[in-house]
Amino acid sequence: MATMTEELTETAEQERFDALIADEQRIEPRDWMPEKYRRTLIRQISQHAHSEIIGMQPEANWITRAPSLKRKSILIAKVQDEAGHGLYLYSAAQTLGITREEMTDALIQGRARYSSIFNYHTPTWADMGAIGWLVDGAAICNQVPLCRASYGPYGRAMVRICKEESFHQRQGFEILYELSHGTPEQKQMAQDAVDRWYWPSLMMFGPSDDASPNSAQSMAWKIKRFSNDELRQRFVGMCVPQFEALGLGCPDPDLRYDEESGQWIMGEIDWAEFEEVLAGRGPANAERLRHRRDAHDDGAWVREAAAAYAQKMQDRRRFAA
Ligand SMILES: [Fe+2]
Ligand SMILES: [Fe+2]
Repeated sequence: MATMTEELTETAEQERFDALIADEQRIEPRDWMPEKYRRTLIRQISQHAHSEIIGMQPEANWITRAPSLKRKSILIAKVQDEAGHGLYLYSAAQTLGITREEMTDALIQGRARYSSIFNYHTPTWADMGAIGWLVDGAAICNQVPLCRASYGPYGRAMVRICKEESFHQRQGFEILYELSHGTPEQKQMAQDAVDRWYWPSLMMFGPSDDASPNSAQSMAWKIKRFSNDELRQRFVGMCVPQFEALGLGCPDPDLRYDEESGQWIMGEIDWAEFEEVLAGRGPANAERLRHRRDAHDDGAWVREAAAAYAQKMQDRRRFAA
């Protein structure tokens, strides 16, 4: 049972936390924070880290088959960036008191979530363009406001990540632009890839606001700054002129701008598909997890060797002292 002094201290701590949030200040790892705030951040940041790491797979699939040396080196750099994003984010989550091992175990045992978008296949080169343009584009809309997230290590990690994401989006757009201004077959390939990725990228913003119960709390804590629907609107508004520049059609025949409300009116998102993929029954869920698990097992000797080396260095320093 909490003593009276503990309760008083807790109230004072809560007041200090609330004041920092109200004042747009940052919460840092050693600051007191409500347990629910900590748990929410651990869940969100680790899911985000897992998404970066699993997200390497659909594109790594094309590294050996990229159409030129230049494309290959750009794609390798992009996939490497995603590994880096995973590392910053795992490190940010670790400051909240969870270990890297706990997070990895949750992922490979299928207990943790990652973005559903990476459970789709990438059958053609044009998918590299569509992922960069649409998936990284949607990620940017989601992530730019996270640079101001109230938790310091998360916000700071996002600043660097967002800079790299804008390069990813440009390289995707550029792949699609080349294809859509190439032969009729290439243009068709670009259109097919965009048709495949458009709707799943709209789903990346999550359920509509009235079906998203946790959002309000995250907004009050200033982790999240805009609602799912607001971000989806922003993304669609960004895509429309770019569809035109690409000379490709938007797969949503109902999409139009409503002057009166200042909103984009969109066709119905297939939420049943979203739920299926989320529940682990998407086109590539099992494959993605299997691959991640195998990579973890195959890398066991590297972790053991690194730990043995670190121990050896520590012993050497101790004897020298
Ligand atoms: Fe990323
Ligand atoms: Fe990216």
